[in-house]
Amino acid sequence: MAVALSHRKTVSNVYSDAQAAAVAAADMIEARLEAGTLHTFGVATGSSPSPVYRELSRRALSFSDVTVFALDEYLGLVPEHPQSYRAVIEREVIVPLAVSPHQVHLPDGADPAGYDQMIADHGGIDLQVLGIGRNGHVGFNEPGSPFDSRTRIVDLDDSTRAANARFFPSIDDVPRWAVTQGIATILAAHSLLVVASGGEKAHAVSAALDGPRTERLPASVLRDHRDVTWILDRDAAAMLRGSANKSTAEGTT
Ligand code: F6R
Repeated sequence: MAVALSHRKTVSNVYSDAQAAAVAAADMIEARLEAGTLHTFGVATGSSPSPVYRELSRRALSFSDVTVFALDEYLGLVPEHPQSYRAVIEREVIVPLAVSPHQVHLPDGADPAGYDQMIADHGGIDLQVLGIGRNGHVGFNEPGSPFDSRTRIVDLDDSTRAANARFFPSIDDVPRWAVTQGIATILAAHSLLVVASGGEKAHAVSAALDGPRTERLPASVLRDHRDVTWILDRDAAAMLRGSANKSTAEGTT
C-alpha cells in the first residue's frame, strides 16, 4: 500500500532477505516491461542490484526494445578492466538480459553534460534502479553533492573507496574519481527503484527515510521524487523507525 503525500509517493517494502527483495524488484521491472512503459532503463551496479539482474535473467523477458543508461562509471580504468562499470554491466546486464551493446550508454568523463542531453533526447529515464552507499551516496553523489547537480566528474570519498576495495587487489587500485549522474539528473527519472540489502546499509536507509533532508546525506533527497519505491531486506530496514510516508509489507520467500 502506498501513501501519497500531495504529488509525491514514497513506498518502502521490507522483505525477509536479499533474494526476496531481488524477486520483488524484478517483479516491478517485469511489470513495467510487460506494460510497455520501460523504454529507457537506468541501471546501477553493486551488491544490492546484482541479484535483481540475475533474477530478471531467469525470466523469459525481452529487453530488445529497451535503451539502458548506466548511473555512473569510474574514471581511470580502461573499459576492459573487469571492475569498470562497462565491464560489470556487460557481465550482469548486457549478456544475461540479451541487451544489444549499442543500446547501452554510460556517462563519459570527456562530456558529462552530453549524457544529460542524451537522456533527455530519449524522453528521460522511465525507471532508474539505485543502490545506496553506506554514507548515503546515490550514484557517486557523495555527501555534500548539490541537489541541483547534473552529470559530472566527482572525487570518491575515502569511505566509498574503502567499501569498494573488496573488488580490487588493494585500496590503492580503487579509482579516485568517477563520472556520475547528478542528483538532479536522478530526480528527473520518471520512477526510482532503490534496492538495499544488508545491515551495513541500515543507518543510511533510516537516515534517508526518517532523518533530515540534507545534502550531507544525498539519498535523503529521494523523498522529493514523485514516484520512488524502496525495496529493502530486513537487515537494511532494521533501523527504520517509521515515517508518515512509509508503508511496510513483509515479503515471503
Ligand atoms: C553503483 C553506484 C553506487 C552503489 C552503492 C552501493 O553504480 O552508483 O551508488 O549503488 O555504492 O553499492 P553496493 O550495493 O555494492 O553496496
